[in-house]
Amino acid sequence: MPPPGVFSVFLLLLLAGVPAGAEKAERLSPYFGTKSRYEELHRYLLDDPYSPGPSRTGFPLPASSCAPLQLTAIFRHGTRFPTRKQIEKLSRLHGQVIRRSKARPPCSAAQRLARWPPWLRPSMDGKLAARGRRDMEALARRLASRLPSLLAPSRRFAFASSSKPRCLDSAAAFREGLRQSLFGSDKDAVLSETFEINDELMRFFDHCEKFVKDVEDNKTAMHEVDAFKEGPEMKKVVQKIANTLCLPVTELDADLVQVAFFTCSFGLTIKRINSPWCSLFSTGDAVVLEYLNDLKQYWKRGYGYDINSRSSCNLFQDIFKRMDQAVMESKSSKPISSPVILQFGHAETLLPLLALMGYFKDKEPLKAQNYNVQAGRQFRSGRIVPYAANLLFLLYHCDKASSPEEEYKVQILLNENLLPFPHSGQKVSLYSSLKTQYRDILQNCHFDDVCAVPKNAATAG
Ligand SMILES: *[C@@H]1O[C@H](CO)[C@@H](O)[C@H](O)[C@H]1NC(C)=O
Repeated sequence: MPPPGVFSVFLLLLLAGVPAGAEKAERLSPYFGTKSRYEELHRYLLDDPYSPGPSRTGFPLPASSCAPLQLTAIFRHGTRFPTRKQIEKLSRLHGQVIRRSKARPPCSAAQRLARWPPWLRPSMDGKLAARGRRDMEALARRLASRLPSLLAPSRRFAFASSSKPRCLDSAAAFREGLRQSLFGSDKDAVLSETFEINDELMRFFDHCEKFVKDVEDNKTAMHEVDAFKEGPEMKKVVQKIANTLCLPVTELDADLVQVAFFTCSFGLTIKRINSPWCSLFSTGDAVVLEYLNDLKQYWKRGYGYDINSRSSCNLFQDIFKRMDQAVMESKSSKPISSPVILQFGHAETLLPLLALMGYFKDKEPLKAQNYNVQAGRQFRSGRIVPYAANLLFLLYHCDKASSPEEEYKVQILLNENLLPFPHSGQKVSLYSSLKTQYRDILQNCHFDDVCAVPKNAATAG
């Protein structure tokens, strides 16, 4: 007799008449990269999005000795729709597939996809999906249950956001989740905090001239990505998909195949459905497409170029300025003016910051040629920055310290897991030693200098 849980799932599947290949999207979802759902990291959230999950060893620090003093959180927005550009590319691909489906002899895969009702409209352009609002609401409630002394009704919450609607909407959903946690079903209770729009902090990459010139607008900066698109691994996937769709391979390329893969991901993340686009891909194909996505993140947002991470040093310094302030206030027994700082941005906000801090750095750079070497890489964007990704800096005040240095400690969490400090491997650090570790960035990284473009170079190109 199977356990009742297994049996009821079986029964449910039977009753729901799950379409053929229902498990397909689920099997591919570990490889969706920056388009991963948050639940991929914590599977128990699929059953209960409010579950705090198993207790984390060492978090929070024991209340008998240390009390949370300040939380600084940086979020990526929740699940979103594809951008206009992606939706337009998909229409092009779908058009080709439809044409092929009418050809003689008939092509069964193309016919199946031709019947796919296109539900993505260009006007959805990167907006937050209903699922994304739920991501943020549930995240707020989980954090509030873990840090009840900080996320408490008496506190002031300092919200800041990127100007993008998906970020502002994420902030609003988070605030609503917080309201529910703090005031339960009392519908009259409101959180009146407004959101400061701060693109200089949350979209620093737009404001860093050197980054824009050297990387963003530079046609050759992504040469490893371009090489991988033309390389043997990707070529094989493109050829296979072309065969399946009965298309000449010249009508497909890596970008179109990637759009088909994204469409599969959007079906699962936004609507929790198994898009027929998923049936085109094997797990092996997905692993290759994940690498393509990671390669781009690596060169555009990660360790690929120093300017990628250096352009985030303002944000990094801002976090420490606020911790400094809290330590100062605590030392003089004043109330903490900003006990909770909640900032809403993008994957592009978090990846450079994590690289600046030295996280997820592989021995070898990610390249087109070393796909095989990188199978076990640390830099997997789906694990680092899925939708609703969150990086928390938690500052504690500890009693019974043997020296003033020992009084202030920090823990860092990424996506609700403690992140060991890159220098020590420990999951807690004295605030003072953290500042020593990052002294160079804190003292010598000046955004204006780092991002300056030499005057004469602007005309030379
Ligand atoms: C563009 O990127 C390439 C490769 O990193 C680099 O060699 C070149 O200097 C860059 N060009 C500009 C204008 O920054």
